[in-house]
Amino acid sequence: MTKRTVTLTDNQTGQSVELDVLEPTCGTSTIDISPLYKELGYFTYDPGFVSTASTWSKITYLDGDEGRLEYRGYPIEQLAENSTFLEVCYLILHGELPTEKEFEEYQRLITKHTIPHDQLTKFYSGFRRDAHPMAIMVGVVGALSAFYHDDVDIFNPEHRIISANLLVSKIPTIAAWAYRYTTGKPFMYPQNNLSYAENFLYMMFAMPSENYKPDPLMAKALDLIMILHADHEQNASTSTVRLTGSSEANSFAAVSAGIAALWGPAHGGANEAVINMLREIVDSGQPLEHFVERAKDKDDSFRLMGFGHRVYKNFDPRAKLIRGACHDLLNSGKINQTHQELLDIAMRLEKIALEDEYFKSRNLYPNVDFYSGIIFLAMGIPTNMFTVMFALSRTIGWISQWNEMMSDSKVRIGRPRQLYIGDTTRDYVSIDQRK
Ligand code: SDX
Repeated sequence: MTKRTVTLTDNQTGQSVELDVLEPTCGTSTIDISPLYKELGYFTYDPGFVSTASTWSKITYLDGDEGRLEYRGYPIEQLAENSTFLEVCYLILHGELPTEKEFEEYQRLITKHTIPHDQLTKFYSGFRRDAHPMAIMVGVVGALSAFYHDDVDIFNPEHRIISANLLVSKIPTIAAWAYRYTTGKPFMYPQNNLSYAENFLYMMFAMPSENYKPDPLMAKALDLIMILHADHEQNASTSTVRLTGSSEANSFAAVSAGIAALWGPAHGGANEAVINMLREIVDSGQPLEHFVERAKDKDDSFRLMGFGHRVYKNFDPRAKLIRGACHDLLNSGKINQTHQELLDIAMRLEKIALEDEYFKSRNLYPNVDFYSGIIFLAMGIPTNMFTVMFALSRTIGWISQWNEMMSDSKVRIGRPRQLYIGDTTRDYVSIDQRK
């Protein structure tokens, strides 16, 4: 089959360059612009990477128009229905669903490494008790490189899998301890007889003085939420992990950088921002329409958090699946009055926004963060821990994308260029000459 190309011509000089079109297994054809600067002397300009593919990948495919999301080719709906988060972790990292034997070995490996080096517990006491748990996550996960860095040669495939397993094992413990530290509760240690989701709930809510049994419905809802958040192609935090890893920094430093990027309310911090927004609406006593109008006002920085997505120009398939889990919890009577009020407001806001021309014309639909916060609240997880929950789930995506990048022998340090619009060359003026 002849290779497809596109030709770019400079109308001023008449010079042209022929660029290869790279065909995906599914999705959008991509023009390889790497020869552009050398052949035609131009950079391309695409702030926010709206039309730019930064890499190849085999991990996650999403189609924003069709609202499709697949991990290693498996539709998210089928994984949500039939799989567990830990099995999805194996799939995302290794590329195939595990056999029974492979899964047993993986479960044993992950369970065996859930307790971090004991010295790591000392890091928490360096933080103020009112530190945001995401600040603790950035610090403690970055500190892992001081404990396991020597065992991990980033160019050794086995070592890369070791660091991936270490992170998947330890991240729930590190996350739960961030909550325990900021609430003055003693650290609870993982229990090897519990599932991944049950173990996290145990480390979050058990007390040494009582018997605690994780609620199966909550554990199931948490497992679903983690599956839905596990990976999402080249979003801001994953791109940060890749860029950090491309300098040959170690995996723990790269994931710590990803956690920092996720923290922003435009990205993973949106689930916390959604609940704060719903609370602001309830406390204001103003009608919902007032807030929808504010979100449309360019002079008002207010945005409807949990709405809109860079890629999904239709319903976020994860929002659909989480919405269902929200209602299951609602009907189970597990959502107490305060949360029910927030959920009612969320549903009314969703209805108004979906009927509003401004939102419809901009394809602004509820995204995954719109509902996840309500489920976290129902679980008794405080708002400032919501983005930590996102980081807990996305760690497998980050480390698998990092592993994929490091497995490519042609990987180079990421170093974008720029459109310089600053001052042209000028001479130094001594301070006594300056006006
Ligand atoms: C996540 O990338 C990923 O995959 C992310 C994620 C993942 O799994 O990793 O899916 C997780 O980050 C989900 C998104 C969570 N963020 C929020 O819910 C914050 C609120 N949403 C917006 O900040 C915004 O929609 C973004 C950041 C999500 C997307 O920003 P874009 O693609 O840069 O879109 P834009 O800002 O250019 O908006 C296009 C138009 C603008 O209006 P016009 O200039 O065309 O007149 O839509 C408007 C925006 O003003 N708009 C909104 C809006 N989001 C966009 N108006 C009101 N409320 C909003 N939420």
